[in-house]
Amino acid sequence: TNDLLLKSIEASKHYPINFTELEAAAKQALEPGPFGYIRSSAGGEETYRKNTDSFYKYSIIPRFLTDVSTLNTEVTILGHTYPHPLFIAPVGVNKIAHEDGELAVSKAAAKLEFPYIQSTVSSYSIEEIAAETKGSSKWFQLYWSSQQKEVSFSMVRRAEAAGYKAIVLTVDTTMLGWREEDIRNQYSPLKRGFGQGNYVSDPVFMSALNDHSQETIVHKIIENIYHPTLNWTNISELREHTTLPILIKGILHPEDAKLAVEKGIDGIIVSNHGGRQLDGVIASIDALPAVVQAVNGRIPILFDSGIRRGSDAVKALALGATAVCIGRPVIWGLASGGQEGVERVLENFLQETRVSISLSGARNLEEVQNLQLFKD
Ligand code: FNR
Repeated sequence: TNDLLLKSIEASKHYPINFTELEAAAKQALEPGPFGYIRSSAGGEETYRKNTDSFYKYSIIPRFLTDVSTLNTEVTILGHTYPHPLFIAPVGVNKIAHEDGELAVSKAAAKLEFPYIQSTVSSYSIEEIAAETKGSSKWFQLYWSSQQKEVSFSMVRRAEAAGYKAIVLTVDTTMLGWREEDIRNQYSPLKRGFGQGNYVSDPVFMSALNDHSQETIVHKIIENIYHPTLNWTNISELREHTTLPILIKGILHPEDAKLAVEKGIDGIIVSNHGGRQLDGVIASIDALPAVVQAVNGRIPILFDSGIRRGSDAVKALALGATAVCIGRPVIWGLASGGQEGVERVLENFLQETRVSISLSGARNLEEVQNLQLFKD
């Protein structure tokens, strides 16, 4: 561990280390429109602040004299074993942060063995990403198309054909959240054509268009992403169109978690979309314990929204998350240094997580789950 730590310190010499520094570097690299789109969240950003502040309420009570000279961070989720419980959260329109967009992020993820969850609205297609990251673990995040279900099914088929291991259906985006920064900046990445790569590669999406003008494509994508009619019946329909496991992203209420289990959903992601949808909603980490209790070990529970460093990951795992997903820190790494910038962020996350687990006295994830937390 010490060797790896020293290597990580050396490699990071020219890069920002923590979230605040990463965000500052990204601000230098980006125009106000894209920077504001990635940084900001909904309404008065109350939930955005709570997402990180709430981590301070939970403190790790470490055990000592446990011989922490070895550490195994392997986790098995839905039949696949991953080397560490750290995933890349699905984030769309990555070209607004860097020309290499999702290709840079997925390649960095493959190199450091972080499972990559690709967004429906990727600037690059499923096939382009799969070709560049052969053999690495990838999941596909789906935005349900209320207007054109066949497009959803087509996306899922493509992900399956490309060897992706699971479908993550995001359910908290029935409509776009109230995002004041974007209104102020008059900025929409979709209207500027950034999230198109994966849609324009879809034969079903393209064949349904009247014409292939930029305006028509953008209009149709926006219509496809938001899905006010989404309900549990759609989940059954989706199930008929894929043999892959289905996870639901955006669960906060324990009753929804129970329903997910009852409806045969394979896993959930506790998330409030980084505070970008409903402002005033519960901090993701505060929602986790009740969901864990409701699920009672029946399906895996991933977690995101507010993870900024390794010790946050350890707290979420100790509260019962099976794995955590990293969102904005990865995109700030991308904005400030392309693929290499992402690699530095992931490497640092990995090292800090490992050190934090060992210093807590745990030697594997089961022991992390059994750690005691003090709650203020
Ligand atoms: C997102 N997120 C997201 N989620 C999703 O299911 N599909 C998507 O396309 C996107 N796109 C997206 C773009 C940007 C710029 C951000 C910041 C976030 C939400 C993402 O998966 C995750 O839930 C949040 O990023 C978690 O919050 P933090 O930890 O990044 O603050």
